[in-house]
Amino acid sequence: MDVIKTDRLTLRNFRQGDAIDLLAYLHQPRVSCFFSLKLEDLGAAEAEVETRGRSDEQIAVCLRSTGNLIGDVFCILEHPDTYAVGWNFNADFGGAGFASEAARALFEYLFSVKHARRLYAYVEEDNIASQRLCERLGMRREGLFKEFISFKKDNEGVPIFENTMQYAILQKEWVAHNDYPDKLDTARRRGALASEAFG
Ligand SMILES: CC(C)(COP(=O)(O)OP(=O)(O)OC[C@H]1O[C@@H](n2cnc3c(N)ncnc32)[C@H](O)[C@@H]1OP(=O)(O)O)[C@@H](O)C(=O)NCCC(=O)NCCS
Repeated sequence: MDVIKTDRLTLRNFRQGDAIDLLAYLHQPRVSCFFSLKLEDLGAAEAEVETRGRSDEQIAVCLRSTGNLIGDVFCILEHPDTYAVGWNFNADFGGAGFASEAARALFEYLFSVKHARRLYAYVEEDNIASQRLCERLGMRREGLFKEFISFKKDNEGVPIFENTMQYAILQKEWVAHNDYPDKLDTARRRGALASEAFG
């Protein structure tokens, strides 16, 4: 993917050297939907970084000031123009607006360069921090799916199902939310030019 820079962050593909920082927040995933991503040790983190580095769906979010990885965002294309999006940040860097800054940059990139029409995110009902982030981004809460998915089992091995919310935003809603129709047109033109330039 193209490298994206914001005031404080760089969004780029994963690469060698990210493993220690990735392990820092995936050794103990904070929320159930990422339990399956748990990394046991540095070797597992290095393998995960290598896998992620081959994909444009997993995007490393790094501090510009230090270059360190502080979290990640993802975007998975559902043809032709919808993306499932999400985020996972190191708690040590929470409460500073970094997730919002990264997600805004990702949304802008998807809408203006990748011509996304619709973005959506699944958020567990008890994940208030992520719901607040969706709302800061201008996403609409579209629904609550009762006992939608299970990420863990009880002591008897019976799956515990969770309630999941779906949030979404359309391109035209993003434009209205940010109140900058001219800017999007300009970015689109720039995106079209970039696509031409890179074939
Ligand atoms: C969801 C998650 C990314 C939210 O992180 P976050 O740090 O709360 O979100 P932001 O980066 O947008 O920071 C917002 C907070 O920073 C504050 N802030 C401080 N400085 C700021 C600045 N310069 N700009 C913007 N906000 C700033 C805001 O006031 C806000 O605080 P509040 O929540 O007390 O109102 C994070 O909790 C996380 O990674 N959780 C684990 C993984 C997860 O749940 N993923 C989602 C699965 S659905």
